[in-house]
Amino acid sequence: MIYKKTIGDILPQVRGKSVLVRVDFNVPIENGRVIEDTRISASLPTIRKLQESGARVTLMSHLGRPKNGPAPEFSLAPVARHLATLSKQDVTFATDCIGPAAAAVAGALRPGQVCLLENLRFHAEEEKNDPEFARQLAVWGDIYVNDAFGSAHRAHASTEGVTHFIDTCVAGYLMERELDYLGRLLVDPKRPFVAILGGAKISGKLEVIENLLKFVDVFLIGGGMAFTFLRAQGHQIGRSLVENDLIETAGRILRDAGAKGTAFLLPVDCVAAPDLSGTGAPTTVGAARIPTDLAGFDIGPRTIQSFASRLKTAGTIFWNGPMGVFEKPPFDAGTVALAQTVAEATDHGSVSVVGGGDSVAAVHQAGVAERISHISTGGGASLEFLEGRILPGVAALDDRE
Ligand code: 3PG
Repeated sequence: MIYKKTIGDILPQVRGKSVLVRVDFNVPIENGRVIEDTRISASLPTIRKLQESGARVTLMSHLGRPKNGPAPEFSLAPVARHLATLSKQDVTFATDCIGPAAAAVAGALRPGQVCLLENLRFHAEEEKNDPEFARQLAVWGDIYVNDAFGSAHRAHASTEGVTHFIDTCVAGYLMERELDYLGRLLVDPKRPFVAILGGAKISGKLEVIENLLKFVDVFLIGGGMAFTFLRAQGHQIGRSLVENDLIETAGRILRDAGAKGTAFLLPVDCVAAPDLSGTGAPTTVGAARIPTDLAGFDIGPRTIQSFASRLKTAGTIFWNGPMGVFEKPPFDAGTVALAQTVAEATDHGSVSVVGGGDSVAAVHQAGVAERISHISTGGGASLEFLEGRILPGVAALDDRE
């Protein structure tokens, strides 16, 4: 149960009303076609429910980061077509998100119909959270629903500003589910709570590690970021990635974890190679003594085993960031093995939450996505949430009494 009003609270009053829904349809598009549609399908329950309840549904989203106004490669038109196919119904498309082009489409909706407005970021005012632009967006809704968890960490006109011009502002089903799963990580998680953190760098994850130290029982650290911690312990890491300016900070985190009695597991071995060109054969080496001409690109078999034994007894698992360069086999082995272990732990009753583009791609690559309790649609947003920050797009919604 979240402390904000949700779509369930307003359903009885949406019949015949215009409902403006902020979705996050920031999805990859190639040659005019959507190539990955998790975020679109994740918003379908909200869209369908509103339609079934007789609302006129206007969807709005950003796509990419256009910098100079409208540009065809950032158009949401392919997303409108994809949504129509996915939901097996007409989705009309407006070539602008404000003004006459939007009015012609949003204004023509009948109860139960849905339209999508063109990319919000074709107007610089969106990211500036410009009040006049927000007011012009607000015209399309008697009620506002935010289902764009992936953009909730942005205080933009469509996520924050617009709420000042519409009386009823609630969370959609996707937003509700995200806040529920992520919120449960920070409030009374089933123990032991194990966090797997990986990816190339510590920078960008510092706040999350520091905040999670308050909640987590066991950290499993992999990916490039592990080497800065290993360096902080004085180990030889060869040519592996290291953030020299963060060695001291890494040392402090290790000491903090030690003082709290939190287990902070680093790799004990890794799969190393001279570089990623594929010319030098990968070898498994001890993580504390990596030869000077090699760099670690994945966790090794002993590390996989030790991480897996912690995961098997976990009550709660949060995973962000791959264990190695998983897009380049054979350096995907550690990430894929952990994905399978997380899925097995979930089968046996652990609550598992995976967030962040690469780890989400990894659970798909390992074929275990269906077995994870919750896959977050928001990389940056989920990290900011776990840093303990207030997400502006959530804060702006109506409080539950
Ligand atoms: C994302 O993909 O993380 C969200 O859609 C937010 O996009 P942004 O980082 O460009 O604001």
